[in-house]
Amino acid sequence: MTQIATTSVPAPVRAEAEVVQNLHEGGANYRLTLRVTGWPGFEPGQFVMLSAGPQASVPRTDPLLPRPMAVYRTRQQAQGTLVDVLYKRVGRGTALLAQALPGQKVGLVGPLGRCFELPGAAERALLVAGGTGIASVYELAARLVPRVDVCVLLGAATAQDLMGVDDFAALGVELEIATEDGSRGFQGRVTRLLEDALAGRKPGTTRIYSCGPTGMMRRCAEIAALVGVPCIVSLENQMACGFGVCLGCAAPLSNGSYALVCRDGPSFDASTIAWQGLP
Ligand SMILES: Cc1cc2nc3c(=O)[nH]c(=O)nc-3n(C[C@H](O)[C@H](O)[C@H](O)COP(=O)(O)OP(=O)(O)OC[C@H]3O[C@@H](n4cnc5c(N)ncnc54)[C@H](O)[C@@H]3O)c2cc1C
Ligand code: FES
Repeated sequence: MTQIATTSVPAPVRAEAEVVQNLHEGGANYRLTLRVTGWPGFEPGQFVMLSAGPQASVPRTDPLLPRPMAVYRTRQQAQGTLVDVLYKRVGRGTALLAQALPGQKVGLVGPLGRCFELPGAAERALLVAGGTGIASVYELAARLVPRVDVCVLLGAATAQDLMGVDDFAALGVELEIATEDGSRGFQGRVTRLLEDALAGRKPGTTRIYSCGPTGMMRRCAEIAALVGVPCIVSLENQMACGFGVCLGCAAPLSNGSYALVCRDGPSFDASTIAWQGLP
């Protein structure tokens, strides 16, 4: 299995995080802010496991499993660290999370997973994200802006499905948007914008980072291979534990073996993934 060299990551904590705000931002999109005491910091690409909904007086057993969510960004305060999570209400767990009120507690374990391998000083970073994957690349963009050229390409079915656009714009990155219905930006798939952004680029000058639906990441991997540029993908497989114990998040690799997305990823060199075996 190909391991990506990464910087070291902080040891995770288990916490009862206090809900500070849980804003509905339209459509299925929510912005959750949690206050976490003892938060050890995080690196871009890491995630937390959040309980499916707020904690009640009797521990919840249905749904039992926590849900993985990217750490969007954090802010330090005297009373603890504020951890922001952008999420979409898509099923039972996130519907319960959407009901969490300020002052309630949410179970949190994290930060978990390996972080993104960062680009070289002379490389341009092309971040391609769609759906819930948009949340996974914000901190990467924020940390890269002072160091390298950053171009962010965000895609969604409609304008309402986009998340965090104003936050990316505020970073001052080059930002392009694609929606399939044309309600914002280019009408079509975000991978079309990627092809345009790579046109005329020499191999070795650009690195692609991608997170979102499997089909989108797979297409990014194909385009990267054609052009000869490295591509790192952050997989969003279902997870049950988040730290390598349950084996529920195994992803097939092109060498015939498997990697645990929570422990060996979630970011991988796209060329090491056996895409046809992913859900
Ligand atoms: C690393 C990572 C980061 C993510 N970051 C974000 C983010 O920032 N924002 C966001 O909106 N989404 C993010 N996601 C996706 C998010 O975790 C899912 O959308 C969420 O788990 C859906 O939960 P649900 O209960 O609402 O939906 P459902 O589709 O109802 O839940 C998924 C179902 O699968 C079941 N399940 C989960 N894991 C297993 C398993 N291993 N074996 C068997 N059953 C299982 C659950 O119990 C549940 O029933 C991320 C995913 C990953 C892996
Ligand atoms: S989620 Fe349990 S091993 Fe990865």
